[in-house]
Order: sequence, then C-alpha cells, then structure tokens
Amino acid sequence: MNARAQVASFEEWRDAARSFIAAGMAPHEIDWSEEGQEPGLFAGDEGVQDQHAQPGVLQVSRELFGLLQQAASFRAADRWAFLYRVLWRWSHGDRIVLSHADEDGMRLQMMAKAVHREAHRMHAFLRFRERPVDAGDPRFVAWYEPEHDVLQDAAEHFSKRMGRATWLIATPQGNASWDGAQLHYGPPGNARAEPDDIGEALWLAYYRSTFNPARLNTDAMEMHMPVRYWKNLPESRLIPDLVSKAGAGAQRVAQAREVGRRDGAVIAIEAADAQPKRDEPTSLDQCRRCELWERATQGVPGSGPEDAPIMLVGEQPGDQEDLAGQAFIGPAGKLLDDVFAQAGLQRDTVYLTNAVKHFRWEPRGKRRLHKTPDQRHINACNYWLEQEIAGIGPRVVVALGATALKSLMHTSKVTLTSMLGKPLQHEGRWIVTTYHPSYVLRVPDEQLRAAAFADMVRALQTAQRLAAGEAVEPT
Ligand code: URA
Repeated sequence: MNARAQVASFEEWRDAARSFIAAGMAPHEIDWSEEGQEPGLFAGDEGVQDQHAQPGVLQVSRELFGLLQQAASFRAADRWAFLYRVLWRWSHGDRIVLSHADEDGMRLQMMAKAVHREAHRMHAFLRFRERPVDAGDPRFVAWYEPEHDVLQDAAEHFSKRMGRATWLIATPQGNASWDGAQLHYGPPGNARAEPDDIGEALWLAYYRSTFNPARLNTDAMEMHMPVRYWKNLPESRLIPDLVSKAGAGAQRVAQAREVGRRDGAVIAIEAADAQPKRDEPTSLDQCRRCELWERATQGVPGSGPEDAPIMLVGEQPGDQEDLAGQAFIGPAGKLLDDVFAQAGLQRDTVYLTNAVKHFRWEPRGKRRLHKTPDQRHINACNYWLEQEIAGIGPRVVVALGATALKSLMHTSKVTLTSMLGKPLQHEGRWIVTTYHPSYVLRVPDEQLRAAAFADMVRALQTAQRLAAGEAVEPT
C-alpha cells in the first residue's frame, strides 16, 4: 500500500523522508507531490506515524545533506521522489549514489549545480527600482523570474546588503519582503510596478558610459547574462542599440584577432620606422629619440662660430664632456688641440660637435666606461647633427672616426679605412675622413700612433684648403 506525501519545502520533505526511511518504506511505495496546500501534510493508507516512524534516527553526511538541500530547489515534477530515492539508496549503504558515475548521482550533482548558478544569477541580475517617497513601504521593488526556487536564497542575500531600507522581491511563484528588520514570504501578488527612478537613470547613464564597444563579445555577454534575464534588466533596453553601434568596431576587433592568429610573412622593417610620427623635441634636453638620455647627465651640443667654414664631428661626449656639457674638453680634446696646432688651425675658428649627443657608458667599478653607440643611436641623433650642419653651413665637414662617418653618410655600410685620405663631395659639401683622437690615444703601437696622428694633421690641412676653395688630390 502506497503512502502519499505533500510537501512544499525542503524542510518538510526532510522530516517526511526521515520518517519514511525509519519506517522502511521503499521509494516505489511513496507518492510525492507538492500540490498540497497544507505544509507538512502526510496522508496515506498507512500514515507514517502509524508505522512507528522514528524521526531523527537517520544520520546523513554533510555532503549528502548539502546536495539534497540545494537540489531541492531545482524545479522538476519528480524532485521529492528523486531526492527520496537518493536518500534511500544512501541509507542502504549505496554510497555510489553521490558519484558522477551513477545515473542518480550525476543528476543530483547537476541539479545542485544548476540551482547554485541560478542563485548567483539572481544576485547579479535582480534590479531594484525605487518607488516615490510618498508611496510608503516598500521603498524598493524588484521583479524577477527565477528558473529554480532560489527566492529565499536571494532574499537572505539582499537582507544582508540593503540595510534597513525596505524592499520587496516579486516572482511568479511568490514574494519576499524585508521590513528593515525581518524577512517575510508571501504568495504571488500584484507587485510588478515599474516606476522610473533617479537611481535607474543614473545606472543607465553609468552602464552606457562603461560599455566598451572594442571589447564587445556578444557570445560571452549572453553566456554570463542569458537573454532570458534581459527583459527585467533596465540596461537591457540599451543593449541592442549599443551593440549595433559597436558593430563596425566589433568587426574590426574580430578581424584583428583573426589576423593575429595567422603565421603571416615577416616584413623587414626597422623598429624605428614602424614608430608613429611624433612631435620632434625642440631642445636636446627634451630629446627622447633613443634611450641614451636616461643615463647621461645632459645632452652635449656642438660649439663654435655660427658661420664656421669647417666643422669637426666626433663620436659622442666622453665622461668629462657629459659632466661639463661641452664637446672635446677631456683627453681626446687635448689631443685634438695638438692636432690643431700641428695643422696650423685655430680651434676657435671651427665648429666642434659629435654625431651622438648623449654619453653612452657602462659601469666598471666606480668608473663610467665609454661604450660605442649603436647604429640606431647614430640614426636617432642624426636629426640633431643635420640641424647643426644646416644652421652653420660649413664648406667642409671632418669626420673624426667611423661613427661620425656613418652618421654623415647615413649608412652603416661605409668603413673608415676606405675613406681615409679621400675627400668626397656629399650633399653639397666636402667630407674629409680621419681617425678619432681617442684612437690615437689608445693605439699601443707607437708607429701606428704616429701615423694616425699624422693623418689627422693632414686631414685638417686638407679641410682648410678645401674650405678655401683649393683643389685637393686624394692622398
Ligand atoms: N670624444 C668625442 O667623440 N667627443 C667628445 O666630445 C669627447 C670625446
């Protein structure tokens, strides 16, 4: 003979189920229904109390209890019968009933998970609307259509977050309300009023302003906020318009992502050429065309008469020049003075500068050791050298060493040795190439040093003749 049980909540099911288990009633012997109007009503040919039920005897694990409790909120016609079958099997030692590998276990886990997700969505997608102040309590109302019975969970959630402000959440299955101190539950009523409110206008303005078309991903959006929730979200009114306005942008983003995935051909392009055009710095102090400024004391400009017929271009400021802000004042400058003297040239009649304006160095103990600039430093700084050449307009430019030569010829391919003793006309002026004074200082072989010094003297003499308009034979 079958028993019939009508329950309306997990607590009622739990009490009834305990009694049935205690009475040894198998799942097929009970008709569960939730249509009963009287909570906790048990009815049947054999009432459980008549069967000497012993409520409270059954002890279940915490895991099982949690799963049963959560799954009880899953809307399914057979939920109570199903939960009882799980409980029955478990109470008879069939522990696999909690496993995903078991058909009932898998369904139980799925139900619990779906309820958990729905509760989370209700927290996220429920929107309260403020009612006019003179409308009395509740001050805020919300309408929501949950997929499972998660109203109680949501009500408890909001009761902890809304302080003493009164509210009511209406759903097709029933209402929950908060009077500022306590929660109340009631049957569905006529609570679906949708007054416009200031808070909503603010929320819409905020939503519109934070909507980022470049990050629009409608699939992800629908996954996190399924379309069925949209009708009760005030911002959902904005979404179609915002999405359509973002259409072109979204397409571009999608294309970019697609293009990024392809292997593609490698395009040979200098990093510097790929840079967007920026405003040029107006002074060396502002120069960020390469990174050398970061470690240098200052940019060192050239110096000399504004109409000097001869310009000497070195490599880059050394340690002393970096500190003083003036070119060729250290050891290399001293050697250069000797060369000037031998060549019969007054230093103060020439313009002295460098291809690179910031000191490149690396630490060595307490010393800053000169480091040769790379071609990219030379290229970046050529901007300044070209300005100096254009401003002074020398007839002859003397390249002191390879760095100066590369900058003046705008190429890294040119070599110093190939240009020694061979003045050349370039961009409307003479270029004379010789050694850098630091090379002369460094070279250990005395003969080589003397030869290099002699070449420098010769170069300055050549420069003077060329500046005077005399013809010069290559040496
Ligand atoms: N070496 C250079 O090339 N320039 C200077 O100013 C000093 C040393």
